[in-house]
Parts: sequence; structure tokens; C-alpha cells
Amino acid sequence: MKFQLPKGTFDILPYAPEEPWQLTALWHKLESIIAETAREYGYAEIRTPIYERTELFDRGVGETTDIVSKEMFTFEDKGGRSLSLRPEGTASVIRSFIEHSLSQARSSHKFYYIGPMFRYERPQSGRYRQFHQLGIEAIGASDPAQDAEVIDMLYQIYARLGLKRLRVQLNTVGDLESRAMYKAALVDYFRPHLDELSAESKIRLEKNPLRILDSKDPKDIELVRNAPSILTHLSPSAQTHFQEVCRLLDSIQIPYEINDKIVRGLDYYTKTVFEITTEDLGAQNTIGGGGRYDGLLSSLGGPDLPGVGYATGLERILQVMIAQGIEPLKEQGPLVYFIPLGEEAKTKCFTLASLCRRSHLSADVELCAKKVQTGLQNATKLSAVYCAIIGSDELNANKITLKHLETRQTTDLSLDRLISYLQGIQP
Ligand code: HAM
Repeated sequence: MKFQLPKGTFDILPYAPEEPWQLTALWHKLESIIAETAREYGYAEIRTPIYERTELFDRGVGETTDIVSKEMFTFEDKGGRSLSLRPEGTASVIRSFIEHSLSQARSSHKFYYIGPMFRYERPQSGRYRQFHQLGIEAIGASDPAQDAEVIDMLYQIYARLGLKRLRVQLNTVGDLESRAMYKAALVDYFRPHLDELSAESKIRLEKNPLRILDSKDPKDIELVRNAPSILTHLSPSAQTHFQEVCRLLDSIQIPYEINDKIVRGLDYYTKTVFEITTEDLGAQNTIGGGGRYDGLLSSLGGPDLPGVGYATGLERILQVMIAQGIEPLKEQGPLVYFIPLGEEAKTKCFTLASLCRRSHLSADVELCAKKVQTGLQNATKLSAVYCAIIGSDELNANKITLKHLETRQTTDLSLDRLISYLQGIQP
């Protein structure tokens, strides 16, 4: 039997035949740009388990959302507890924040996380069952500047990666007061069209009418087009907050469009919501999204603190990089590649390589090739900087010839000078 990946998952390989992209190297680039940007914006890394009590997501993300009602990987452990693989990171971070009383440590908190998330969705390009998110959560500040900072940071990460043609779509879902007014307006609008709504949206109308705006059903989409706008149902304070976020984004030249149909697929949002989209992703055109969630902490039994954050799919970022032809990053090969001729030379190469590595110089030894030519080809494939063929002549004379694989220049050295020479030319 030949084993294959479970549906909706993938391997991240350092190389593959006919594949110009060195995927692991690309992931490293992505992760290092994220870590650097996070540090500059003052976000510290947090790591939480990949599974949690199912109830956390029911209450945190919302039972009427697609993510919770249809897409969770839920299982019972041997103690009969219902657990779920995390479909997103916000609920877990908030659980951890509350559980460890982090609010007592300082007044504002900024976290980031990178890790796998799990949603049982129909796999297609850009949509997986296990995917990776970068997420950030800023807890404690209700100031609109916090919302603008979060959007700026995400935009900055994309810019540093060289992504182009991105659209920031901004909306507000208001505060509790605005949403109560807006829900009533939505019910008034949809009720006369009840028969035209999809079966699911009929239920949504009773339970959570805002979810109808997020429906992908063509029947609903048509009706949603003329639905009332949240922007005309905002309380004065929600309106001021939104205007201030817009003003601050203008002040740092972040281009955005206001799209009053964005409600996001999770229930915890209040006030600012946003999505960043690109034409280069096909059907799954959202590369990242987030918003404010001022009631989430208290609803999960924590202190009444506001929060705002986002998540972006790393696979989707890589997909856009590939679609936009962003230069793939070449993994740095070994500084020196030793090719032994015979058993005695192999031992010498083995000790030389070990010596190099102990001096923090990357080195490798050819252990498989039967011919020198194949050894040289392997050195080139690995993007080695130098190669050194060692045979009886070299052993007898205690010397080595380093060949620069790109310039073809050769350098003769006595073996005892090898390390100091390589240390001198180390970039
Ligand atoms: P989300 O919009 O559900 O938000 O997911 C954020 C991003 O994760 C999406 O824009 C997309 O890039 C990626 N993503 C989602 N599902 C998949 C999938 N099946 N396959 C590949 N990529 C996917 C959240 O998860 C919120 N926790 C964001 C947040 C943080 N809001 C506040 N704080």
C-alpha cells in the first residue's frame, strides 16, 4: 500500500524534482520577516496548544458560524471530554491570557503566533484542512490607533515580502448599541423576502441576521446587495471610532476602501473589521483579515478588556508570491563540499568536515557518488561555494585545492590552513 497525504494537507519540502521553489527556504524567509516585523511593532510570540476544549470555540468563535457549526475537527478524548483542533488562534490566546492572569502583569499586551490551524472545508486552491496562520492580538487598548497599527503592521509584512496589488477593505460592525439597531433593520429588510432566502439563511435570520451578509449562497448574495448598510446605523461613539481609524490610516498612507458588506466569518467582532484581498489568489481572494473584539474577553470569563487583531494565511501569502513571480530565495549551500577518492580519503574528509562545522563553517562530504563527476554535480545542486577533491596526492602532501564552483578559481592550501582560510572568506 502506498500512503498519501490526508486530503487538504500538504508537505513543505526543502526541494523536489522539477520544482524551482525551495519551499522550506521560502517558509524561513516568511517566518523571519514576520518575527522581525513583530519585534519592531512590539509584539511578543505566544504559543498555545493545537487543541482546546470544544466549548472554548463554541463560545469564543460562535456556534452559528460556519467554522464552528461545520468545520471543526472535534473528537472525544479517553476521559470523555470533547476537544477540537483549533480552527483559529484568537480564542486560544484569549483563553491563555485569562488563565494566566496576564492582565495583572501590564496594561497593554501585544502577542503574535504562527502555527497550524484546522478547518474541515472542501479543499481547493488556497483552501486547506490544515493551514498555517500568522495571527496577532493586541489586548488592552481601545484607542483607534491600536486598530490602525494592526492594519499597518499586516500591510508592512506584505510590503516587505514584495506583494503587490493588495486591497485593504475596511468596515465597522459597530458597538452593541449599533448592532442592535442594525440587526433590527436587517430583520425588517429580509423578512418580506423570507421565501427567497437559502434554507440556512432562514435560520440565520432568527439566530444571527448579520451572518446572512457573509453567505456564499447565490440566492442570498442577490438579496444582500440591497440590504441596509451598517454605516447608517452606527451609534455616535462607533461612528467616531471608525472615522478616527480612517483618519489614522490616511495619515500613514495606507490605501483602503470602505466595504460595508464585510462582517467576517466569526462572531466576536465589534467596531473595526477588515480584510486584505488580491486578484492573484483566484476564488479564495482573502489573504488576511481581522478586527476589534471588545466583548470577547469578558464573554469568556476574563477581565473586561478590549482587543484587536488579525490573521493571515501563510500558504496564501506564498501563493501570491509565486503568482506575482517574487524572486524565490535560494537556500545557502555548504561553504565547502569534500569529495573523497577512496577509503582513506573518506576518513580525512569526514574529519575535515567535522572540524569545519565545529568552527561554524558549513561543510558536507560526498558519501554516495561512485564517480568524481557525480560528486561535482551534487556539489553544484547543493549550491556549495567551494569543492575540494581529496585523493592520495592530497593526503601525501597534506594539502588541499579549493575550487570555487562559480568562478572556477582554484586555491592551493596546506591542510592546517584550511579553517583559517575559510574563516577569512566567510561572508
Ligand atoms: P479568518 O478570516 O477566519 O480569521 O482567517 C484568517 C486568514 O486565514 C484568512 O484570510 C486566510 O488567509 C487564512 N485561512 C482561513 N481558512 C483557510 C483555509 N481553509 N486554508 C488556507 N488558509 C485559510 C481568523 O482566523 C481570526 N482569528 C483573525 C483574527 C485575529 N481576528 C482578530 N484576531
